[in-house]
Amino acid sequence: MEKRTGKKSLLMLIILTMSLCLISACGQTPAPDPGEADGYTLDNIRNYVVGIDEEMELDNGSKKAVTNFDNAATTPALQPVTDEVNEKLQKYGSIGRGYSQKSNYSTELYNDTRDKVLEFVGADPANYTVFYVNNTTDGLNKLATALVEDKSDVILTTRIEHHSNDLPWRENATVIYAEVDDQGRVMYDEIEKQLQNNDVKYVSVTAASNVTGYVTDVHRVAKLAHKYGAKIIVDGAQIVAHRKFSMLGKTEDENIDFFVFSAHKMYSPYGGGAVVGLSDVLMEHMPKFYGGGTINIVGDDWVEYAEAPKSYEAGSPNYPGVVGLGKAIDILEEIGFDNIEAHEKVLNQKLVDGLLKMDNIIVYGDYEDLSDRVGVITFNFSDANSSLVAEELSQHYGIATRRGAFCANPYVWRLYGLTDEQVHNFAECSDVNTPGMIRVSFGIYNTEEEVDYLLKVLPDAVKRAKKTNEKNWNMANPEY
Ligand SMILES: Cc1ncc(COP(=O)(O)O)c(C=O)c1O
Repeated sequence: MEKRTGKKSLLMLIILTMSLCLISACGQTPAPDPGEADGYTLDNIRNYVVGIDEEMELDNGSKKAVTNFDNAATTPALQPVTDEVNEKLQKYGSIGRGYSQKSNYSTELYNDTRDKVLEFVGADPANYTVFYVNNTTDGLNKLATALVEDKSDVILTTRIEHHSNDLPWRENATVIYAEVDDQGRVMYDEIEKQLQNNDVKYVSVTAASNVTGYVTDVHRVAKLAHKYGAKIIVDGAQIVAHRKFSMLGKTEDENIDFFVFSAHKMYSPYGGGAVVGLSDVLMEHMPKFYGGGTINIVGDDWVEYAEAPKSYEAGSPNYPGVVGLGKAIDILEEIGFDNIEAHEKVLNQKLVDGLLKMDNIIVYGDYEDLSDRVGVITFNFSDANSSLVAEELSQHYGIATRRGAFCANPYVWRLYGLTDEQVHNFAECSDVNTPGMIRVSFGIYNTEEEVDYLLKVLPDAVKRAKKTNEKNWNMANPEY
């Protein structure tokens, strides 16, 4: 009996010693990665947002983790995206130029990600080509300088657009606009009217507004464009992390010809983005952006340029940007766009319901029917300066919003009800004195509790903003 007990104790001791050795050899026991075990979901994605718990100093010296409602501007990184980039940097070599295993590996990954992008947006590799860009602005500028032959080419866009889908056309072509309706939605009959009355070469529209979150039925616009012999370009900056987007329509004439988007708005802040476009059209053109990587051969006074996509990617490629983009696509698809849409709808509704209970509130766009809006809500208080309210939210309550006219000035002035002439009067004003709105834009990781927090502190932020206004500026009519 005694002997047996002694054997048992010895065994226990050995097991214990081995376990201790293992723990000390490995250092800390690694935290389980639920993303890998269960997949990434809306329920666990918050655990993977880089910096979500990082405390920042408020104006009273206290520290607080920021509630980030500025996702339409840019999204935070996801840990698996940064992990993927770091891992793939181990095998980083020059892309398309080097003679090494690392160079071959990086080049293959860089090019394979084009296939992933094509699949992500439902584009047939037989007809479409992907070229990488720095961001949506870069992509639209490249398309503008490539596709427009001369200033007389007519481009039709709308008054809902971000400046990045307006100014490149203004600078390179003749631009005409389709108006928005009283609620700020794109008017499809206006688009058709403009197509009927003008010889339009390209129609360029946003898939979702960064001001009101309205989703445009771009396949309907594609059908109209094609009916009148034009091609369609879609600014996908605000749709790409919010809704499943396919370049394929129900019928061929509804297909999208060009789609442009940024990776930093889909949780991969390494620069990067892509243009997916009709191969035959891209092959016939080239952007006004020249240099290394775009050529087959160069002589003393002659150049033979390469085909797309190389001809659209002058300069050394952005490897981390492409790796991050590929991983971000995987994660968003794993979470599921139906889930993302449903989640945004809940947050939108909660925020609007709460805002509408407040005094002197103005909510822009159609707040009764939120069904065609991604997670973007823009508002104002008629008796408080929006710049000061946003500043209070940030500095006193640790809530990040955006305030201003969101690089979509003409659209914002329309929502305000300001004429072009009135706007001219603000040209010389300081930022705090120019009209602006407060924008809340949601990401996949935002929660209902965060919306509750904003709604709770907002009336106090307004009170504080009014006090600051009286003390420092004494603006009789703070907004305009
Ligand atoms: C609708 C829309 N288009 C284009 C852009 C420009 O995107 P980027 O700054 O990534 O070039 C933005 C940015 O906010 C946007 O919201």
